[in-house]
Amino acid sequence: MHFEYVYPDPDTLFTALHNYCVKALQTDLETEAKVSCYLSGGSTPLPLYALLARSELPWQRICPALVDERWVAVDHAASNEGMLRKHFSQQADFLTQLKGMKTGHTTARDAESACNELYATLPQPVSFCLLGMGGDGHTASLFPHAQGLTEAFQTTSTCKSLTALPSVVTGSLTERMSLSLAGILQAKRIVLLFTGKQKWEIYQKALHCSDKAAMPVSAVRQQ
Ligand code: 6PG
Repeated sequence: MHFEYVYPDPDTLFTALHNYCVKALQTDLETEAKVSCYLSGGSTPLPLYALLARSELPWQRICPALVDERWVAVDHAASNEGMLRKHFSQQADFLTQLKGMKTGHTTARDAESACNELYATLPQPVSFCLLGMGGDGHTASLFPHAQGLTEAFQTTSTCKSLTALPSVVTGSLTERMSLSLAGILQAKRIVLLFTGKQKWEIYQKALHCSDKAAMPVSAVRQQ
């Protein structure tokens, strides 16, 4: 089932999304000892993370994990894991539970099996996967025509390394680890979050796009 919610302003959007995420976690925790959730990087979700970081949630029973990662050290300004650790710096249990994708391996490709082994330890269910969308139609780090994208669509593994084509969206951060399509679809609920008219138009295109290599977000939306 797909539901589309359009909000008139950011405050209304993030209040509703915060309530949705909290309810998803609380509902699953009524029947599960532990759950996971997948969180994206980028800038759009930051108001949500600020709200979640102030929420009274049993983070000791919730395992947050990255949707994707730029292949940089966690203390690098572009690290998605670093961004999450900064936003949740007051939630000790969140910081303990958070599973990142960045390993000590030189390349994301070398880290694939270690990353998949780590993600295999995540408690099920994944209550929600929060995805963003770029203006180029990417989601997670499934970038258009990226090296590794076909495998990322086809693999049953949860995590897949990719090398994006350099673009204004990727900048120099082309080496990535990402949830594969199968990894994204493991989640009980998938939220695709974006703001602004330009991304709305990209989304409308993705609804009918038949070339998922050109608009990877369509591979998720058309499930
Ligand atoms: C990343 C993100 C990425 C993000 C989109 C949207 O590592 O860059 O995970 O997939 O969700 O690029 O980014 P903005 O929210 O900043 O527009």
